[in-house]
Amino acid sequence: MKAQVSGLEPSGTGEHAPALRPMLKADLPAIAELEKVCFGAEAWSLSMLAEELDGIGRTYVVAAAEGVVLGYGGVFVGPDFAEIMTIAVDPAQRGLGYGRLLMDHLLAVARAGGASHVFLEVATDLGPARGLYDSLGFVPLGIRKRYYQPSGRDAIMMRLTLVGPGLVSDVPEV
Ligand SMILES: CC(C)(COP(=O)(O)OP(=O)(O)OC[C@H]1O[C@@H](n2cnc3c(N)ncnc32)[C@H](O)[C@@H]1OP(=O)(O)O)[C@@H](O)C(=O)NCCC(=O)NCCS
Repeated sequence: MKAQVSGLEPSGTGEHAPALRPMLKADLPAIAELEKVCFGAEAWSLSMLAEELDGIGRTYVVAAAEGVVLGYGGVFVGPDFAEIMTIAVDPAQRGLGYGRLLMDHLLAVARAGGASHVFLEVATDLGPARGLYDSLGFVPLGIRKRYYQPSGRDAIMMRLTLVGPGLVSDVPEV
């Protein structure tokens, strides 16, 4: 396992620059705290996070610097499609490129796994996330009414069509 992804450092330089690495069980308490900050009442619990981390077809990564998790994300890759399971960045670290760094990696994992399409849901009031997904080429498919509980917010379903051969070597090792 390599701790650094060469050429993918969104800010800072040198050995203390944030980098992607696989999510570990030991990260889960910190991630559960970030979940609460980022998603409030809809946050995944520690046990839900642990179940996800061990789930079939899942790849979870964190952006971390000096042992501190700044952001994280996960993707499920099935036989022919993929789904972004979650992505979040510490509010104090937003706008620095970590969200795009995480998404680029999750999409590379999906492509390498043979997915032709990547799906996700995003709450209708999440402007920054929607901006990120739009910029990557995701297109809205429709609305899932009251998808998020307990808030009852609607979700927009989005899809990205992956084109090109998608070589395994496209995935940076983390
Ligand atoms: C969505 C999120 C992960 C983005 O993380 P980030 O590190 O701030 O994102 P980046 O700095 O990499 O920005 C990537 C792109 O996102 C979009 N974006 C980021 N902040 C934005 C904002 N305030 N308004 C609109 N678009 C924004 C832009 O397209 C940006 O690209 P650009 O810098 O080239 O313009 C972060 O805002 C977050 O954790 N939000 C709360 C959790 C969440 O909503 N998760 C998604 C659930 S579906």
